[in-house]
Amino acid sequence: MNLSVDIAAGKRPLTLANPVMVASGTFSYGLDYAKVFDIQRLGAIVSKTTTLLPRAGSPVQRIDETPAGMLNSIGLQNVGVAVLKRDLAPVWARWKVPVIVSILGSAVEEYGECAAALDSVEGVAGLELNISSPNAQKGGMEFGQDPEVAAAVTAACVRATQLPVIVKLTPNVTSIAEVARRVVDAGASALCCINTLQAMSIDVRGKKPRIARTFAGLSGPAIKPVALRMVWQVCSAVDVPVIGCGGITTATDALEFLMAGATAVQVGTATFRDPLTPLRVLDGIERYMRDEGISGLREIIGAARRE
Ligand SMILES: Cc1cc2nc3c(=O)[nH]c(=O)nc-3n(C[C@H](O)[C@H](O)[C@H](O)COP(=O)(O)O)c2cc1C
Repeated sequence: MNLSVDIAAGKRPLTLANPVMVASGTFSYGLDYAKVFDIQRLGAIVSKTTTLLPRAGSPVQRIDETPAGMLNSIGLQNVGVAVLKRDLAPVWARWKVPVIVSILGSAVEEYGECAAALDSVEGVAGLELNISSPNAQKGGMEFGQDPEVAAAVTAACVRATQLPVIVKLTPNVTSIAEVARRVVDAGASALCCINTLQAMSIDVRGKKPRIARTFAGLSGPAIKPVALRMVWQVCSAVDVPVIGCGGITTATDALEFLMAGATAVQVGTATFRDPLTPLRVLDGIERYMRDEGISGLREIIGAARRE
């Protein structure tokens, strides 16, 4: 059975052994999970979003539970690019599983500087541009909501590196297809849909927002139907590989995204409840393929779109 997928095509190819990745910010830098299960079985790992300089993140309270998901306002706490290169990339270079580094800048040029700093670093298989986090004080979602700026960030990074450049889109826009088209025109190798939906909750006893910074990002099963709809729309709009993300908890969820046209999927919030979720999703996809007599993922990708 062939589970391999090309998540970035053209001049900057990136082939994964299978389509199950883990989402940025929900798997840290991978080292802790390596103690819990065989992470080498994953298709790819996306690192916590990393900025040029280290960041301490938001004040607490940063997370809250919702009936079918969670709110987070971690605020991009991370070690910074220099520590990532010195301490983490050498470890990743020994791993079979490719590690994609998620980056964010507070200005267009800073995205380019991050991309340049990570170019040709052994252990870094690709970049994912976070132009979609609702928790960045500057950069993140505000850049991804403006097609012009989203395209400028993409072009700056594509110029600065030979690595495949995946652009992670925000659902907090009127037309995700328009942003998708602009960043692909600017040179994106692939897209990831979606980051969290901007949301909030209120403590009725304290009579104030629960999250210190008021707004947070909603993730988990609650957002899956929205993410699926957006993956469908983005796959209709562009020709590059699309990575589906949002609420994936089971193999059936993942198969829905693949059938909508996604080439791969990312599992995020579900790993907090059960760290083995990504492997369960992978095993379930294989089981489905065996049951259906399917030998390659090509038969599944976009299956729901065919007449
Ligand atoms: C605690 C937490 C931290 C996150 N941090 C990041 C991040 O640093 N960069 C990023 O691009 N997305 C981040 N995300 C968003 C996820 O990568 C993913 O896009 C989103 O949660 C939807 O997928 P899910 O429902 O499977 O979690 C974070 C999500 C959570 C729950």
